[in-house]
Amino acid sequence: MIYEPSDKNIELAAKIIKEGGLVAFPTETVYGLGANGFNPLAVAKIFEVKNRPSFNPLILHIAAKEQIREISTCENSKIDELAEKFMPGPLTLVLPKKESVPDIVTSGKPSVGIRMPANEVAQKFIAACGVPIAAPSANSFGMLSPTTAEHVEKQLGDKIDFILDGGKSEVGVESTIIEYSAGKFYLLRFGGLPVEEIESVIGQKLELKQNSVSPNSPGQLKSHYAPEIPIKFIDEVNLNEINPAETGLLVFRKNAYGDNFALIKTLSPSGDLREASANLFAFLHEFENSGVKTILVEKINAPGLGRAIADRLQKAVNRYK
Ligand code: TXA
Ligand code: MG
Repeated sequence: MIYEPSDKNIELAAKIIKEGGLVAFPTETVYGLGANGFNPLAVAKIFEVKNRPSFNPLILHIAAKEQIREISTCENSKIDELAEKFMPGPLTLVLPKKESVPDIVTSGKPSVGIRMPANEVAQKFIAACGVPIAAPSANSFGMLSPTTAEHVEKQLGDKIDFILDGGKSEVGVESTIIEYSAGKFYLLRFGGLPVEEIESVIGQKLELKQNSVSPNSPGQLKSHYAPEIPIKFIDEVNLNEINPAETGLLVFRKNAYGDNFALIKTLSPSGDLREASANLFAFLHEFENSGVKTILVEKINAPGLGRAIADRLQKAVNRYK
C-alpha cells in the first residue's frame, strides 16, 4: 500500500525496518526497496522480492555523512572532498568496507556502495531507522526503475506492504557510481551526477570499468533497465515495416518522424538534460501502460546527464536485440 510521508507514517516505516521488514521509499534518483543493512535476513528478502541474482551488491543509504566512517575504512582526502561536495546527492561511492557490513549486502566483496539521498522523506526515514538502509531500485530485476510510488506499486505491490510516497523523483536516473580502490578511481555507472563534475574534483579522468560477463555492477550488464515491451532505436528499424498505430515514439527535443504514432513523448522540448533525465523512466512506464506494442526511440548524444540517458536506453534496447 502507498502511504503519505507524514511523521507518523515515517515512524511506522522505521518500525517495519527495525522488525526486519521491507519498505519502499522515495529518493531524488529513483525509488528504493529498503531493509536494515545490518540485518542479513532482512536484506535477503530484498533479493527474493526483486528476483535479483545474488551476485549483485546493494548500496547502503545513510542519513548523515558521519555514517561513512561507520561502514568504510577508507581515509582519503579526495573522497572527503567528493562527500563534502556531492552528498547528499546522486552519487554512490564504492569504498573498502568495514567488517561490520554483512556479506549479503556486498555479495562477498571487500567494498561497499554508500549513498546519501538528497530527498527529504528519504533522509527522515533513514534517520528514523537509525541504521544504514540497504536498498536497490524498487523494481523487478532488469526492469524499469520506478520514479513514482505508483510505479513501485505496479511492479512490486503484491510482494511488499509499505510504500512511502515522496512524489516524483526529481533526478529520475540512478546515482552515478564510482569506486575507489588501490589508490585509483573508477566509474562503474553513469548516473544523475555528471562525471565531468566528479573529474573536476578528483583532478583526473575516470576510467570506465566495464565487464558484462562478471559484472561488478548491474549498471555494467549489457541489458538492463528495460520496459516490458520491445524498445528499438528508430534509426535501426525499417520504418516501412512499422505499424504506427501500435507504436510509441520517444524523442529528445523535437519529433522529426511524423505524427501518426499512437503515443509520442518528448523528453525535453528545450533540450534540458535534467528535465530529460527526470522524464525518462516515467515516460517508459507510460508507454508500458499505454498498450503500444513497440517503442521507437531516438539516440541521444550529449555530455553530462546525456551519457546516463544514452546508457539506460542502450541497455533497454539490448534486451530486445
Ligand atoms: O540511485 C540509486 O543508486 C538507486 C537509489 C535507490 O539509491 N539505487 C540503485 O540501486 O540504483 P541498484 O541496486 O539498482 O543499483 C546499484 C548498483 C548495482 O549495479 C550494484 O551492483 C552496484 O550499485 N554496487 C553496489 N555495491 C557495489 C560494490 N560494493 N561494488 C560494485 N558495485 C556495487
Ligand atoms: Mg536497479
